[in-house]
Amino acid sequence: MNKTATANKKHYEKVMMLSKRRGFIWGPSPEIFGGLSGFYSYGPLGKIIKNNVEELIQKWLWINGFWEVDAPTVSPEIVWISSGHVEGFIDPIVRCTKCKTVYRADKLIEEFAPNIHTSGKSFEELTKIIEEKNIQCPKCGGKLGEVTGYNLMMKTTIGLDTTGYLRPETATTTYIMFKRLHAFFREKLPSKVFQIGKAYRNEISPRQGVLRLREFTQGEAQTFILPEQEHDFADFKKIENEKLPLLPYKIQMEDREDIQNISLREAIDLGYLEKEAYAWHIWVAYKIYEMLGIPKKRFRLRQHLPDERAHYAKDAWDIEFLTQDFGWVELCGVHDRGDYDLSRHQKYSKQKMLVRSSKGKEVPHVLEIAFGIDRTIYALLEANYVKDDVREWLRLPAFIAPIQIAVFPLMKKDGLDAKAKEVYRTLRQTEFRVVYDEDGSIGKRYRRMDEVGTPFEVTIDYQTLEDGTVTIRDRDTMEQHRVKIEELTKEFKKLIQNPLENLAKQMI
Ligand code: GAP
Repeated sequence: MNKTATANKKHYEKVMMLSKRRGFIWGPSPEIFGGLSGFYSYGPLGKIIKNNVEELIQKWLWINGFWEVDAPTVSPEIVWISSGHVEGFIDPIVRCTKCKTVYRADKLIEEFAPNIHTSGKSFEELTKIIEEKNIQCPKCGGKLGEVTGYNLMMKTTIGLDTTGYLRPETATTTYIMFKRLHAFFREKLPSKVFQIGKAYRNEISPRQGVLRLREFTQGEAQTFILPEQEHDFADFKKIENEKLPLLPYKIQMEDREDIQNISLREAIDLGYLEKEAYAWHIWVAYKIYEMLGIPKKRFRLRQHLPDERAHYAKDAWDIEFLTQDFGWVELCGVHDRGDYDLSRHQKYSKQKMLVRSSKGKEVPHVLEIAFGIDRTIYALLEANYVKDDVREWLRLPAFIAPIQIAVFPLMKKDGLDAKAKEVYRTLRQTEFRVVYDEDGSIGKRYRRMDEVGTPFEVTIDYQTLEDGTVTIRDRDTMEQHRVKIEELTKEFKKLIQNPLENLAKQMI
């Protein structure tokens, strides 16, 4: 997030107002007790979108050979010492000496001295910048103290006195199952697994609403792979000519932000990417956002600067979405974690993580795709929010929309309602998400459905009683066409397509 908390949040507010009003996202939770920053709930329509996004990721990963696992969200301290999070998962903070408010030091500097790069700077260096730039407490104007470290993990007590932490990522809880997984995969590598579940980070005074949460859902895929397999990866050869919007760090070092729309093969030849297997993971992650229909100009793949990478990463590329109010926001991180994780867990658990290779025995490497589900959902809502002269509505892709078809009688009389209920009951038995609505004028019902992104409405009118046809209204064009009732299901199978099915067919 490279714009500041004081950014004008006009667009964000509009999206969130609609989300709250219509049952997508509620919060901060618990609302009736005043709410706590960083915690949000999904209402009935939001939960359907969340399920749909998770299902898309689940199915896409399965098609690409990943198996799903599920681990506890709480682990004893030793796990997080071993993963490096106790020591390395630290944010720089600064406290106002007067009103005692605490801030993220790097974010505060970025806000008041936007030209200064904060990544990789020590606490002393950050303190010096705050002094030199005369940055004061935004709340009371007081003097800020020294920058110190703050661990982002949420601590808890397991039983009477065992220290535990809520996981700050799902990844580590997958790595610590490696020995079991390796046996499950009959000791073959590469092996691919993923986990979808909650992660927790004790973010300091998060001010970006649903974009910086303290409890959120991740979908994280991990590939265990031998170093010798990383440079020659069969699946890569099938997609090497696909062009992606890349922003390598070498370009950023020249103070440039121009996207390189180049193929992954070119990216390797130009030295932006090193390994075929890693490039393939970037492609797998990218495809999700393409399938979700996020406009191309609003997302990019940005490589981390070397001093920006997390403690475990040898290379990192983020899929970023251009928000109207906060600038580019990371939705998904793709990481080359090398042998960092398994070597650490071998050392701390004293359990061998070695596998057979042509060199004898070695610790496998890990390549990771880390989807943030909640930010992806926000991006979907923001990218598809439209307010024009006539209506305020969501242009959600039909396959992801919480309600796909609404059935209306033109009037609640003359047998139109009975006929409409009959059509509704038939459509309910198909794979589509269908609702029935007879309240208020037909115009109001259309608007209500546009607002929640319903792509199609079926209306039963007087002509239906004569010739058995109904109208289908298209949300985007507001145009209607007539279809015979018995052909409705066939028509919707044509109109509502899941891009995953088409992509899967191409891949066979
Ligand atoms: N296992 C690697 C890992 O956790 P990350 O880049 O820290 O990588 C992955 O997180 C994704 O999780 C991010 O791209 C983002 O979408 C989501 N995420 C991270 N912190 C978040 C937060 N505080 N609120 C909401 N989503 C967050």
